[in-house]
Amino acid sequence: MQIDLRESWSIGAVEIPTRVVLAPMAGVSVQAFRRQGRRFGAGLVCSEMVSCAGIEHGNEKTLGYLRVASDEHPLAIQIFGSDPSTMGEAARMVEAAGADVVDINFGCPVRKVTKTGAGATLLDDPDRACRIVSAVAGSVDVPVSVKMRRGLRDGSRACLDVGPRLVQAGAASLTLHPRSARQMYTGSADHALTAELVSLVDVPVVASGDITSRARAQAVLATTGAAAVMVGRGAQGNPWTLREIVDGTGHEPSPEEVVAELVLFIRETVRELGERRASGFLKKFYGWYLGRGRFPRPFKQELVVLDTTDEVERRLLAAAPGALSLLEELERELPAGDEITLELPVSIYGGG
Ligand SMILES: Cc1cc2nc3c(=O)[nH]c(=O)nc-3n(C[C@H](O)[C@H](O)[C@H](O)COP(=O)(O)O)c2cc1C
Repeated sequence: MQIDLRESWSIGAVEIPTRVVLAPMAGVSVQAFRRQGRRFGAGLVCSEMVSCAGIEHGNEKTLGYLRVASDEHPLAIQIFGSDPSTMGEAARMVEAAGADVVDINFGCPVRKVTKTGAGATLLDDPDRACRIVSAVAGSVDVPVSVKMRRGLRDGSRACLDVGPRLVQAGAASLTLHPRSARQMYTGSADHALTAELVSLVDVPVVASGDITSRARAQAVLATTGAAAVMVGRGAQGNPWTLREIVDGTGHEPSPEEVVAELVLFIRETVRELGERRASGFLKKFYGWYLGRGRFPRPFKQELVVLDTTDEVERRLLAAAPGALSLLEELERELPAGDEITLELPVSIYGGG
């Protein structure tokens, strides 16, 4: 059965134009990544997880995560925390920042987060998880979604117990990454569990985990009844895969296309994070873009030791001179900088 991933679906009243969602990834999902995802066909993009305590305290770096560009919509901003009323407050700020959906993280397996009672730990405390969803849903007009793992321990089926209760508490959509928190990213995502969850709830379910090809996306949608698939690691340095998964027209990019996308990504990220933060942040992307047999391995090594992103850009364009005209074309097609409204009220960004 051929499944059309170009069909739209909805979370509450928010229409999502395709059945592919770009995953939230800490340390990856900057604005440039999200805008690129939308450009390559993702129907919904998501911020990385943002600490509700950081939002409450007006932490400047945290609030930077809430900057939304006009061409990102529809966009979900993900928050994490363990206190229902702080989460409700944070959700209000996230809505004011321009999020179309507030997403709650009940999946993070990292100790730094779980030891505070947030992330995946909440799957072991369904009452608190429901109080959080209810506080968040009661605080905002936009729909609220939840992203979770299967449970804490290997083989856990906690998501099947907790998921329906979260819907009752006000979740308008659930995303399931069916690995246990303990598994981190080992083993494989068991989408038989996604199918069970779909049968238990009457809201759209998004399937996350190991979706790296169009065939896999089609198979997971067909066998689970999920509304959409979420793509994470497969899209790192590889937006072309999103296009391929959505409509089958993706292709292995030429070296010029790779360089043009990477240089655009560098420029946008420098604008967002500043040169100092961006130059460290970007290093992992060089391997992601230039790997996959696209460029000889030593080329990446050359780039990661350069001091400035200007030097990186010069080296990249020297390696694929034809990329310059592609880059200019891409930049012409993007909304100009001043059309990108930062919908974040200045008073919030300033911590006031
Ligand atoms: C580097 C990295 C950071 C992640 N950060 C988040 C996050 O902030 N919030 C979240 O809900 N999931 C996060 N995830 C999980 C992904 O959203 C996704 O569920 C998981 O990677 C499985 O999908 P994939 O196989 O397509 O990568 C992260 C994953 C990776 C690899």
